[in-house]
Amino acid sequence: MTSTDVLIIGSGVAALQLAVRLNKELNVRIITKSKVRTANSYLAQGGIAAALGAHDHPEKHFIDTLEAGRYHNHPETVQEIINAAPQLIKNLSNQNNVFDKDQNGELLLGMEGAHSEKRIVHGGGDATGKNVMEYLISQIEDNIQIEEDTFAYELIIKNNRCTGIKAKKLNGTIEYYYSNHVILATGGCGQLYPYTSNAQTVSGDGIAMAYLAGAEIVDMEFIQFHPTLLYINGETKGLISEAVRGEGAILVTENGTPIMEGIHPLKDLAPRHIVSQTIYSYLKKGIKIYLDISKINDFAKRFPTITANCEGNGVAISEGRIPVAPGCHFLMGGIKTDIIGRTSIDGLYAIGESACTGLHGANRLASNSLLEGLFQGEKLSEWLNTSKIELNETTITYFSTNPKMLNLPDVQILKELMMERVGIVRNELDLKKQKEWLNQWDALESFDSYSIDDINKMFMLTIAKLITYSALKRTESRGGHYRSDYPYEDDNNWLKISIIQKREVEKKNEHIETALAT
Ligand code: SIN
Repeated sequence: MTSTDVLIIGSGVAALQLAVRLNKELNVRIITKSKVRTANSYLAQGGIAAALGAHDHPEKHFIDTLEAGRYHNHPETVQEIINAAPQLIKNLSNQNNVFDKDQNGELLLGMEGAHSEKRIVHGGGDATGKNVMEYLISQIEDNIQIEEDTFAYELIIKNNRCTGIKAKKLNGTIEYYYSNHVILATGGCGQLYPYTSNAQTVSGDGIAMAYLAGAEIVDMEFIQFHPTLLYINGETKGLISEAVRGEGAILVTENGTPIMEGIHPLKDLAPRHIVSQTIYSYLKKGIKIYLDISKINDFAKRFPTITANCEGNGVAISEGRIPVAPGCHFLMGGIKTDIIGRTSIDGLYAIGESACTGLHGANRLASNSLLEGLFQGEKLSEWLNTSKIELNETTITYFSTNPKMLNLPDVQILKELMMERVGIVRNELDLKKQKEWLNQWDALESFDSYSIDDINKMFMLTIAKLITYSALKRTESRGGHYRSDYPYEDDNNWLKISIIQKREVEKKNEHIETALAT
């Protein structure tokens, strides 16, 4: 049993930004399922958006964010984060070489889809996440302990307050970690789909744990499918950044016909849901889609990570085109938090992709998520640095040693059905089929006696239910949620968030209930 002032689950940008900004006299522990350098943030190719250009203004960035989010965003949250963006970037860029600059030492600003101005800062061309993470890792001091290969699986709740977590080590040992403050920073749920840009570890653990502990979860139907993942032999092999289209690449069929003409005024840089749906409609008809990169000079220099990935997978950049397919990239919903990161359970906070602050609305504007992570880490650190809570938790715990045999699905089949029925294009019939399919498997309350693999599976099942049920409820299309049977936005009935919270009834293994709130 260990006890800390601040316990952070997850090790991406939001988690590390929080850890390094906390007062040095606070005892901080980060526990992470895998390794710090395998965090999803480390893979981020896209940059960080901030209104830094001579003709730009936070108000323009604000409007682009709302437009991409289809006005489902929380406007005050958007305003606060977007206004803070230029200073967050300047602070980071003043202290080190995280971001790319021109020969005069000015930040280089790139373009991405649905932005009205060049406002994306990058690091190492297409290695922004890695650069920011390495900088944050370099700032870690002795007050911060990192425990890798430690899988958190249950929140400890006492008198309606989260006082810690239970976690398993790779050898199956159970550890209890108590803390005055528990922060979930476990990322989204990319691994719920077979096509994804996300790291292997990103399967919704924090959201599932928060849900099972009774926290409010919101907007799980809003999943962003990134239009361009490298697509080889029916499998996706990592992201081809939108910055590639920002530099002039266009989407074409095998015979070179551009596919975004006449679809949206921004063409290849239209909001991601539009581009993804368009590509998907071609792939469904068996027509392959490519990114034509032939007009981009010095591609390998500008995009070293993408070049290495393509070449490593047998796609020669010199051919001038890259085969692509859309895949799950980002979850706009998650654990409901306020701007500080507080959830509906005392002592429990969420930051990063596992949280839903309302910044992204129904679809995230490109390069707003590393920004959100940096903002959240800093904001929550200010709150925790002045917090006076001291719990001294010493609960005695018991383990169940008699695991029941579990009826759980094959993970690959779960993923494929999620893509087919709860993916880029959804409809009532498929969603109902999926709901029924998901309900046939066991749902458990107590995980102590199960293996990490089985708990992971149960978490994936929980997340799949949350997405499917929310998608079924929302009888409209908006941003990352597209229903072919309700293809339009319905502002009169649906400009409201979808809250799912575990109810007492579910303890008797009844279905998850959804409640909608404005
Ligand atoms: C990309 O580079 O296309 C991804 C950036 C992002 O999703 O913010």
